[in-house]
Amino acid sequence: MFFFSLLVLLFFSKKWLVCLSRANTQREKEREREKSFEEIDARVPQEHARTHAERMFVNNDANQRLCESLVSSSYVRQADEATKRQSKLFSQLLSNRKLPTDGWNEHTIESFLLELAQLDSNNFLDNCGVGEREGRVYSKLVKRRNFGLHHGIGRSGDVSADQPKAIGSSIIAKLANILVTDAMKISGLRSIDCTTTLLLPLCTGMSLCSVFNALGAHQRKEEQGERRNKIVWTRLDQKTCIKSIQASGYDVCVVEPKLEGDELVTNLQALENELSEEDKNKRIACVVSSTSCFAPRASDDVEAIAKLCRKYNVAHVINNAYGVQSRKLCGKIDAAMRKGRVDCVVQSLDKNFLVPVGGAIVCAAKGNGYLVDKVRTLYPGRASISSTLDVLITLLEMGKNGYERLLDEREANYDKLKVALQRTASKYGERILETPNNPISLGVTLTSSRNDLVTKFGSMLFTRRVSGARTVPMQETKKIGDVELRGYGASFSTYPTAYFTAAAAIGMNEKEIESFESQLEKTFKDFVKLL
Ligand SMILES: Cc1ncc(COP(=O)(O)O)c(C=O)c1O
Repeated sequence: MFFFSLLVLLFFSKKWLVCLSRANTQREKEREREKSFEEIDARVPQEHARTHAERMFVNNDANQRLCESLVSSSYVRQADEATKRQSKLFSQLLSNRKLPTDGWNEHTIESFLLELAQLDSNNFLDNCGVGEREGRVYSKLVKRRNFGLHHGIGRSGDVSADQPKAIGSSIIAKLANILVTDAMKISGLRSIDCTTTLLLPLCTGMSLCSVFNALGAHQRKEEQGERRNKIVWTRLDQKTCIKSIQASGYDVCVVEPKLEGDELVTNLQALENELSEEDKNKRIACVVSSTSCFAPRASDDVEAIAKLCRKYNVAHVINNAYGVQSRKLCGKIDAAMRKGRVDCVVQSLDKNFLVPVGGAIVCAAKGNGYLVDKVRTLYPGRASISSTLDVLITLLEMGKNGYERLLDEREANYDKLKVALQRTASKYGERILETPNNPISLGVTLTSSRNDLVTKFGSMLFTRRVSGARTVPMQETKKIGDVELRGYGASFSTYPTAYFTAAAAIGMNEKEIESFESQLEKTFKDFVKLL
């Protein structure tokens, strides 16, 4: 009996010991796990730790099995399916290299960016940086604002080269480039591709400067003899472009548009006169034309200019500042690329893609990327990822459908704005300026106004919280650098009337048009009392 009791006791104590040791191993494992999370917590910025832990489950079979030992396996499998759907979106983006058809939600975009951020060396768990630039950032707020992407993009020899310390950031830069190219193709710039498209962390003006400097460097290398020191500029009264020519060290040769009805169109004859004279031609670095502009100036006839540039062997740069939002303008540029000479087109990121100011796109037709390449290799130093990141996030959220919807809405808004302006103007004896070749901006006469009161009309609108309307009195003169422009504001020395403009830009909504109409009505009512 005693022997039997001893056996039973031994049996149970052994079982207990096994249980105990299993529990110990389990606890040890848990402790290990906790420790590893503590380590992660200590090393990864706090705000990233949660997402990092989440990410460990994504497509990780070992983790899935471990989770199934903690909670119901059917729930884990269901959750795993959901994360797989998300990771499929990532794979589709990487393999299709196009805008996703439908936009992603915010959480998916954030997960994607945080996953990519973990590929940058400043976020490696065991990284120890001993260089002078290790992507260290003091403020948690700044870290969060940048998703931990601190290293910037590019290398000092090429702004679009892979940054070895920041492969996640480099992937983001490549993807942004691909999506922007796709969006611009949807807008109608079909001749470009992502090898001839370059995002710059500079506004339109500074990007134009980079293009002119790159062109100078190219021409100095290609051509011996006298330096080409002049840029022919089809006049458009917005200071940026003319200043970018001057800031790059070139003289400006102004070709004024000609008046056709209400509209100011490219003076092709005057342009040809400049290009055809052999002596003059040798000094010309390029012609700069513009598409997006304030009414009553029309978009330049870029196709005809491109043909002239081809005929006279002169480079042609198009300032398409806010033209990507217009399929009509992009179609014209595409035709110019196919039928004549276009060396480079520059456009703003913020004005076309609804992101904060700070970036621009320089592009050219596929197979003609010599100038874009020169810009990317001449760019000194690395670049901020900020504007690139903003546009990538935005395009992922919009998707192809969202982007096309915005293009359609803008076109519809142009018609609505035109009707609203016509309706109000006619009540006060004014009228819309007929400018069929400007698909974005509209002008309304201020003929009954005293010229000295025209700008007052603009400030009255502004105090009524209408921003962006532009008033142009007659016969103002302005000097920009050493260039004097008569009739400044109108892009023409003697435009026959004062006027104001309003634009149907991408992202505008119908409510804004309604509210503008009612504020315009009140402004007119008060304004006529001043006359
Ligand atoms: C025709 C034109 N070019 C250039 C610019 C300036 O662009 P950024 O401020 O991006 O240099 C503008 C601004 O509206 C513009 O209208």
